[in-house]
Amino acid sequence: MPLKITGAVDPELLDLPWSVPLETWPKDTLAALPRGISRHVVRFVRFRGRVLAVKETVAPIAQREFDMLKELGRMGAPCVVPFAVVDGRVDKKGEELPAALVTEHLQFSLPYRALFSQALRDDTLGRLIDALAVLLVRLHLLGFYWGDVSLSNALFRRDAEAFSAYLVDAETGDLHHGLTPGQRHYDIDLARTNIIGEMFDLQAAAELDETVDPLAVGDRIEERYKELWETLTAKQTYRENVRMHVAERVQALNELGFDVAELDMTQTSDGSELTIRPKVVDAGHHSRRLLRLTGLDVQENQARRLLNDMDEYRALMGNEEDEVLAAHEWLADVFEPTVRAVPREFRRKLEPAQVFHEILDHRWFLAEKDPAVTMPAAVASYVKNVLPARPDEQSVLGQEISVGDDESGTPREAPTVTTMIHAWQSLPRTGQLD
Ligand SMILES: Nc1ncnc2c1ncn2[C@@H]1O[C@H](COP(=O)(O)OP(=O)(O)O)[C@@H](O)[C@H]1O
Ligand SMILES: [Mg+2]
Repeated sequence: MPLKITGAVDPELLDLPWSVPLETWPKDTLAALPRGISRHVVRFVRFRGRVLAVKETVAPIAQREFDMLKELGRMGAPCVVPFAVVDGRVDKKGEELPAALVTEHLQFSLPYRALFSQALRDDTLGRLIDALAVLLVRLHLLGFYWGDVSLSNALFRRDAEAFSAYLVDAETGDLHHGLTPGQRHYDIDLARTNIIGEMFDLQAAAELDETVDPLAVGDRIEERYKELWETLTAKQTYRENVRMHVAERVQALNELGFDVAELDMTQTSDGSELTIRPKVVDAGHHSRRLLRLTGLDVQENQARRLLNDMDEYRALMGNEEDEVLAAHEWLADVFEPTVRAVPREFRRKLEPAQVFHEILDHRWFLAEKDPAVTMPAAVASYVKNVLPARPDEQSVLGQEISVGDDESGTPREAPTVTTMIHAWQSLPRTGQLD
């Protein structure tokens, strides 16, 4: 069978060394080693100014995962973007090689193992678990049964003071019209078990503080999931003041970041009681509002933070009536100058919206000493005192550490994720991709 590429429209993809097993791809094609724990061989590849993730697997599974990720993307699920399926690979001797699923590397995403070391300082671990619970609820609302929920099968992006999680491994998943409570519980149980396992692994590698209780971390995902699911989908019955209650319910969901697209309302025959249940809820309440007003496409908590700043600015300017005009003024006078003040060499460290969020925090911190501190002063102080110490997070992939053949010709063992993370942390922080 000839080499066959489906999905991508870039013929340059044919130039990658498909006749070589992924494990031994030449260093100059690789961006770095994979970071998560995986069953398959996964490598990152530089490709036309971006990074692609290549995973070797069998053809029908690669195609199925490709289709699933495409469909999930269409539905607005947070997941990696599929790029191509490559099949019909043979090596130089004509032996068959596995098919490959190619996905786009999610920029500014971090595998959890690159993050958990901060766990005890500011409850990073807890925030990762919460983000995973939100992701699971969102996927379940769309009818996606994951089948292998774990921290390794997700990627995390900073999202203001929280994280947001993205699905990366959809291989075991399935799309349905809706999930039964049994299917959902199966996913939650698996999430709990997998996470507890991941915590024990970290402990065994002496990478998790002993005071962290793996069981409690596992319980947290279950609790957070159940709380959020209940809030989003529970039935409520009202006898009076129905309009107000409905408005309150919708507002509470908006504040959580969800829009109610459809609501089921059932009235008793005598009209004395009304039961409401949100039927379709869409995540992204704040990010949609920000996008509509400014064209900025950012994550939910970042959007919430930016909108707050915009609303404050509007109040300060006395421009309460015209939301759209005020949004444009805020963009031109506050957001853009702030983001532009970040020197080019630092732009790979954090996304612009995240930088803006951190500068707002920094201004608060400075305001303790000088309540009149201005935004430009806060920006200057942040760029000078905070940002230089931050690592580049645009493409956290790990640093390649001598895999491949040693002198004896036998492949050396691949480095562990931990050594890769340590190597990454000690790297100079410039120009990995340029
Ligand atoms: N598109 C991507 N962007 C960033 N990281 C990725 C991407 N695809 C895979 N990875 C990394 O590779 C790891 C393994 O990928 P995964 O799909 O989970 O493979 P497996 O099926 O072998 O478990 C993930 O945990 C993640 O860290
Ligand atoms: Mg996986």
